[in-house]
Amino acid sequence: MKITYFGHSSLSIEVSGKHILVDPFISGNPLSKDLVDISTLRADYILLTHAHQDHILDAEEIAKRTDAVIVSNYEIAIYYQARGLKAHPMNHGGNWKFDFGNVKYVNAVHTSAFPDGTNGGQPGGFVIEGEHKNIYIAGDTALTMDMKLIPMRTKLDLAILPIGDNFTMGVDDAILASDFVECDKVLGIHYDTFGLIEINHTEAKKKFYDADKDLMLLEIGESIEL
Ligand code: NI
Ligand code: MN
Repeated sequence: MKITYFGHSSLSIEVSGKHILVDPFISGNPLSKDLVDISTLRADYILLTHAHQDHILDAEEIAKRTDAVIVSNYEIAIYYQARGLKAHPMNHGGNWKFDFGNVKYVNAVHTSAFPDGTNGGQPGGFVIEGEHKNIYIAGDTALTMDMKLIPMRTKLDLAILPIGDNFTMGVDDAILASDFVECDKVLGIHYDTFGLIEINHTEAKKKFYDADKDLMLLEIGESIEL
């Protein structure tokens, strides 16, 4: 499994020959818009955690070009189906076996309206059980006790957690989240994109290190292999 970071919460996951794009917000991100060309990104699936602008901005354009299937909660799925795109609706606690692995839509504590005010259902995260490797993409969320349910079903190899604070968990709660999901290997997302979520990288990494955990902060365009 190869994971590439495109800034904010945007990721590409390559697993079993499929390309999965997560929360594509690139053309509106001042940190990534000149580094990542959305017209060349590959996508068989686009996973959307919730309907906020900073997670869906480029989803429609990329889905139109690639014919990718949008995977999200029911309300987000029907919103895109009504716009002529392919979508797979899920809801919290539900699993579906895709051709790249098993996906579960899990709880997040946040909100989820589309930029135009359309109801974006309830926000979520994803647990992906891929070929030999399992990951958790928390989406935008507070620290929540529900995270403790995840390791009861899935042994994670990587937890992808928001760390920017203000709109989501910050670093200290993400360390607790890492305990809750029983995974010490964390990829930080949802930080630095705008002033309200800027973080001190050195301090954040030290806090994880002091808790015997590993926080990865990738450069835009950088990949890791699991
Ligand atoms: Ni959000
Ligand atoms: Mn967000």
